[in-house]
Amino acid sequence: MLATVSHRRDLSFSPSSTQNHPVLICVTLEKDCFGEDAETSTRDACATLRFALRGAKRLESCVHFFRYRYGQLHCEDVDLARVADKFGTPLYVYSAGTILDHYTRLNAALAPLDHLICYAVKANSNRAILRLLADAGASFDIVSGGELYRVLAAGGDPARCTFAGVGKSRQEIEYALDQRVYSFNVESEAELEYIDRIAGTKHSRAPVAMRVNPDIDPRTHEYISTGSRENKFGIALDRIPAAYERAAAMRNIDVVGVQMHIGSQITEAAPFAEAIKKVAPIVRDLKSRYPIQFFSIGGGLGIIYESSFESGAREWWDDTTIRSKSKRDRERKIALSIHEYVDAILPPLRELKLRILLEPGRLLVGNAGVLLTRVRYIKQTGQKKFAIVDAGMNDLIRPALYHSYHEIVPCKASSAADAGQGKNKNPTEKIDIVGPVCESGDFFALDREMPELHEGDLLAIMSAGAYGFVMASNYNSRPLPAEALVRGDRFALIRKRQTWQDLVRDEVEASW
Ligand code: LLP
Repeated sequence: MLATVSHRRDLSFSPSSTQNHPVLICVTLEKDCFGEDAETSTRDACATLRFALRGAKRLESCVHFFRYRYGQLHCEDVDLARVADKFGTPLYVYSAGTILDHYTRLNAALAPLDHLICYAVKANSNRAILRLLADAGASFDIVSGGELYRVLAAGGDPARCTFAGVGKSRQEIEYALDQRVYSFNVESEAELEYIDRIAGTKHSRAPVAMRVNPDIDPRTHEYISTGSRENKFGIALDRIPAAYERAAAMRNIDVVGVQMHIGSQITEAAPFAEAIKKVAPIVRDLKSRYPIQFFSIGGGLGIIYESSFESGAREWWDDTTIRSKSKRDRERKIALSIHEYVDAILPPLRELKLRILLEPGRLLVGNAGVLLTRVRYIKQTGQKKFAIVDAGMNDLIRPALYHSYHEIVPCKASSAADAGQGKNKNPTEKIDIVGPVCESGDFFALDREMPELHEGDLLAIMSAGAYGFVMASNYNSRPLPAEALVRGDRFALIRKRQTWQDLVRDEVEASW
């Protein structure tokens, strides 16, 4: 297999899609490609080659690039303690390699289909992350004018954006029309009428896909389940033919697609396949009547939270999913791999002969991020021991909001942990890891077995790349945390920590 690479961006595709095969990478030095200056071009070419070689080696791993090296937790080739020292804590750190690896593996698995991967911006909307994905060729799923603005600011193409959300405002619809988004995913007939009216006043046409509510149980947390009849999302299956008939008759609407999304953090392939099988006949029928170009099956692929750290090693996947010694392990569905997911959805989708859109958020960025936090105090009360850390529920609300589990690992490993990559043989103790916010719900872990913690220890809260920073708030007047991006052996600040001045900056005196 020969992969010709003329731009660093191409590396996002070539090595991953040929996973486990020898790859010959040919770097073509082109002036236009690398800029006018020949010296810069050479430097860029060398950097590209280094990146390629590292990337090829890393493809052995499956889920993320967080590893202990020399007793210190590293993200790719960067010691996380260095990043924390430089930018302070609490701090989100993301691995660019992990994000690109997920994107390219999903993209490669979907190769048999005409497809677009529309990254769900809501999962992590930092411009640097959006730029990374835009450069890799991703499209975007947006849910607000603000997200569209971000995508554009990151250099993304509006013509590759689908605009979803149940309550789009006039301002947002106008903005999306002006920018000529790929499609509006419409959630109700009332919204359809509104979009038609606004498009009419602007003398433009709105490309539209209706969101079908397939009424199936995605078997996930009730707050993030969206595909059943009781949810506010989408249009009921039995209303769909009439809704499309109305849409097709509207003066300023172009019917271009069908959309659905059943929920988030789904760890089995069956609900996805079930929903597709249920909706496919309707899509086929709609396609015979209207100029339908695409079917979007939404996002929702679950990631690993419980064994987050270990799942970064290929052996973890092999041991637990293929030849697990324990029957319980074998029976328990531990994780949904990209291939299992694609294998389940491909056959019914192929038959539709339509462009297929996916809207993954968490899958692409979830395991690619950690929240670094430092232990401020150790507190012992009666039976309980607490580690009070400098991150709070305002920085990462998922444990408080969904009781969700995030694995927490110390950044400095004991030698046993180093050797075992996280399997710490040292004595452990039960401890609550809590934040400084004045709420009992401000916890990251309750009664968690941890190696003995001390004041000043740096901890990494794993799988925090999705729905972490984006859900952060200023509760308790705590400034928003900083964010950093690691790429190979380099790291950079991608969002400054807020200051106390920032907290009051937008407040104005009442005029009376
Ligand atoms: N498409 C639509 C229409 C969605 O509503 C969502 C997520 C996605 C795609 C992306 O889903 P993903 O692939 O990331 O599962 N804050 C919650 C998750 C809320 C998900 C909302 N919708 C959490 O922290 O778990």
